[in-house]
Amino acid sequence: MEYKLLGSTKERLSELGIGTWQLSRNREENEKAINLALDSGVNFIDTAEIYGTENFVGKVIAGKRDLFIATKVWATHFRYEAVIKSCDKSLKNLGIRQIGLYQLHWPNSGISIKETMRAMEKLVYDGKIRYIGVSNFSKEELKSALEAMSKYDIVSNQVEYNIIQRVPEMNLIDYMKKEKITLLAYSPFAHGAIFRKRYRKLVGRIDLIGKNYGKTAGQMLLRWLMQKDIVIPLTKASNPQHMRENLAAADFNINQKDMKIMDGLTPMNSNAGLSRFKGLIGGYVRLRSALRF
Ligand SMILES: NC(=O)c1ccc[n+]([C@@H]2O[C@H](COP(=O)([O-])OP(=O)(O)OC[C@H]3O[C@@H](n4cnc5c(N)ncnc54)[C@H](OP(=O)(O)O)[C@@H]3O)[C@@H](O)[C@H]2O)c1
Repeated sequence: MEYKLLGSTKERLSELGIGTWQLSRNREENEKAINLALDSGVNFIDTAEIYGTENFVGKVIAGKRDLFIATKVWATHFRYEAVIKSCDKSLKNLGIRQIGLYQLHWPNSGISIKETMRAMEKLVYDGKIRYIGVSNFSKEELKSALEAMSKYDIVSNQVEYNIIQRVPEMNLIDYMKKEKITLLAYSPFAHGAIFRKRYRKLVGRIDLIGKNYGKTAGQMLLRWLMQKDIVIPLTKASNPQHMRENLAAADFNINQKDMKIMDGLTPMNSNAGLSRFKGLIGGYVRLRSALRF
């Protein structure tokens, strides 16, 4: 496992982080999966007050050292007092004295970002959190958030980024590189959608590239993100089998030529979009002949 610096800090985070949203109900399996990751050198776990997994994460990390825990405050809790209250609750749920990274979960234009960031800075000042991050912020929202800071930096922005969801490539990534802000890439498998029929063609092409490395499409997709500057993907796997497969993304490198090929792959140019379109037309034709109109 390799490590990347978080934003402009000296904090070293594993190049793969663990997500804990919508874990299956089998807590024993979930715990085994996370422990497998920790044993492989992963030092970074992400949760959120809204996920309902903070207590579980607290239980898994109890007694373990040198872990970096990230959690998030939900957008309706962005008033000054509410931020402080949410943080206190998360500290209690997690059973830790300091949160590594505290993130604003989604932007909320109804509450002044200045007020919210004043509370976040107070939490750093009081030692309850170590670093401030945001999540689901566009370039413009991130810019406003940076302008609202008076003492501390924003070190990360957690956004959806995967082979299908390329919006961050439009203007966000370049801006974050310039500002030295880490991109925590959530849903590296598009929330599991890449394993469904709709993306069979795209995944087939990635599988083919993966054959040169003896790796699966899932491992290629994680590795593709891990090799990108400033990007750390968050993988969620509810059981040890899935986690083991995902962790193997850390033990190889995709060469530059294949990175470029993967950069150029999208659902549209892999015919997934086309086959969906064809499927719709086919359905229409079948319906028409059945109803004879
Ligand atoms: N900030 C935000 O607003 C936000 C939003 C969404 C997610 N996130 C974070 O990002 C994390 C990851 O996102 P996500 O949960 O949407 O993840 P994802 O990695 O895109 O997809 C997870 C899905 O893929 C399945 N999976 C995982 N490994 C697999 C494997 N090797 N083979 C086959 N299937 C596999 C999982 O099944 P199993 O569970 O059965 O293993 C689950 O159904 C979340 O847990 C959360 O921490 C943040």
